[in-house]
Amino acid sequence: MNSKRRALLGAAICMSLGSAVSFPAFAADKPLTMGFSQVGAESEWRTANTVSIKDAAKQAGVNLKFADAQQKQENQVKAIRSFIAQKVDVIAFSPVVESGWETVLREAKAAKIPVILTDRAVNVSDKSLYVTFIGSDFVEEGRRAGRWLLDKAKSMPAGDINIVELQGTVGSAPAIDRKAGFEEVIKSEPRLKIIRSQTGDFTRAKGKEVMEAFLKAEGKKINVLYAHNDDMAIGAIQAIEEAGLKPGKDITIISIDGVKGAFEAMMAGKLNVTVECSPLLGPQLMQIAKDIKAGKEVPKRITTEEGIFPAEVAAKEFPNRKY
Ligand code: AHR
Repeated sequence: MNSKRRALLGAAICMSLGSAVSFPAFAADKPLTMGFSQVGAESEWRTANTVSIKDAAKQAGVNLKFADAQQKQENQVKAIRSFIAQKVDVIAFSPVVESGWETVLREAKAAKIPVILTDRAVNVSDKSLYVTFIGSDFVEEGRRAGRWLLDKAKSMPAGDINIVELQGTVGSAPAIDRKAGFEEVIKSEPRLKIIRSQTGDFTRAKGKEVMEAFLKAEGKKINVLYAHNDDMAIGAIQAIEEAGLKPGKDITIISIDGVKGAFEAMMAGKLNVTVECSPLLGPQLMQIAKDIKAGKEVPKRITTEEGIFPAEVAAKEFPNRKY
């Protein structure tokens, strides 16, 4: 991806326009207060996302109330209720899982506080419970990973290609969507078979632990690892090496995010490809929050523009990486 495209990150807006929103009038000279509930600090991606949001708030003069949910939905619900009680101007959050949000979002709506979803979507039948969503197309990320593997399969030895899958957090949008997108694409090649699939909760430690179990159960039968994020892939790489195998060679490794750690692994020949998922959502989030409070019409979904980086381009791209 060239730098112009990257600069346009987020400017690639899916203009499925939401309806004009009406929230209490807001004095433009008063700093906007935003309550933000973050998933946690489970990955290199998440750390970069938190930095992006905090930095952008500072730059935009937004008074940010930040709460870390430590990967627990109950903590996010508590944080949102506390933001409502504090009468913040806007609530934004990255939901740890997709379901179970109706009640608290109805409370925010009753308090006339607009809600912005960032990074992960929610599964609610009443779409008016949030104003907009800013983030990636996770299904497309899964498809990109699948398409890369379809192409790679052409040069792999004849016979079944056995895949193990490290899923993200159970019930989270990226875990559900990345699995669906990948499966949708690989089903066109019957040689590609997912023989094990388990959650690694998006963390390095769990990625390593689950990969150890996969290796114990399947050993040298494993040809490909598909990890729903780079951190789990990096943990799995350690497990593969400890099992006396060569990651990136004996086992082809595909992951998602495009963090610096993944580029380092690719440059060391241990990871074959990473699909980009940008965490740099802060500036867009602050702008959209201001637009909503100014009564402007905003799109219902704002999709970030992303690419895919195979190991062959890692060294050239590494100096451009921002996270
Ligand atoms: O929701 C985005 C995902 O969450 C990222 O891929 C992962 O690294 C993070 O924990």
